[in-house]
Amino acid sequence: MLLIDGKKTSEEIKSEIAARVAEIKVEGGKIPHLAAILVGSDGASQTYVGAKVKSCEQVGFQSTLVRLEESVSEDELLKVVEEINKNPEIDGLIVQLPLPKHISVEKVTNKIKPEKDVDGFTPANVGRMTLGWPAYVAATPYGIVELLKRYNVETSGKHCVVIGRSHIVGSPMSILMARNEYPGNCTVTLTHSRTQNLAEITKTADILIVAIGKPEFVTADMVKEGATVIDVGIHRVEDSSKKSGFRLIGDVKFDEVAAKASAITPVPGGVGPMTIASLLYNTLLAAEGKVYAK
Ligand code: GUN
Repeated sequence: MLLIDGKKTSEEIKSEIAARVAEIKVEGGKIPHLAAILVGSDGASQTYVGAKVKSCEQVGFQSTLVRLEESVSEDELLKVVEEINKNPEIDGLIVQLPLPKHISVEKVTNKIKPEKDVDGFTPANVGRMTLGWPAYVAATPYGIVELLKRYNVETSGKHCVVIGRSHIVGSPMSILMARNEYPGNCTVTLTHSRTQNLAEITKTADILIVAIGKPEFVTADMVKEGATVIDVGIHRVEDSSKKSGFRLIGDVKFDEVAAKASAITPVPGGVGPMTIASLLYNTLLAAEGKVYAK
């Protein structure tokens, strides 16, 4: 069984990005600059945004963190987005989700200039990705594609089953795995909470991508011998044997599925660390005008 090491791969990608930033400095070019807007004080969001800002420093990017009160109005937030849209110093902008209930995620997402949408959440980038045009692809699907590529997982003609149809993971993943390039060229089945006979379908998967958001949902009896299994889930469970009092598990029952799989991502250390590497990569593309010409 091959362990697909997202932590190691993400460090490699960050080193490659840092090397490119060093070259840009020598060339006197524009240092990539990512802005993140964080609304409110949700613990998980603070942790994620903190990690993103820290990673920017690691690779030599500039970063700006805009923190807004939970009570900020939608108009006020839209104004901040517009200011960053217009600021030529800033290449990439993310608005950390979730947002408070009184703010429309659709309105805010739609306000982000597609050229700066390094999360790949705007209709323009989702549409471009779907058409196979140059686009910012959302961090999680992009990270998975990169793992499959760097671990030379054969995809052409394979059956890829995706569990979960979210806009951020399952849906784009299904599109990317079906496209006519590598990784891709799969026959794709997109499954979700209403799918009947799910195990019958997953048992035929050569590549199984699990983003259902349920702890240890996929068990060994649902997996074909020799499959490649990608686990997008991350859940905290109490564990008194740990100093922190908890441990992290995925959507896949790791030990029993690993015994059957030919390759598998662990949790933690699989897909998770790849998402920040993808965001940094998109920000580099933005600064260099590689997706939308400057
Ligand atoms: N919240 C959880 N994941 C993400 C992400 O990838 N981007 C943003 N902006 N918010 C998130």
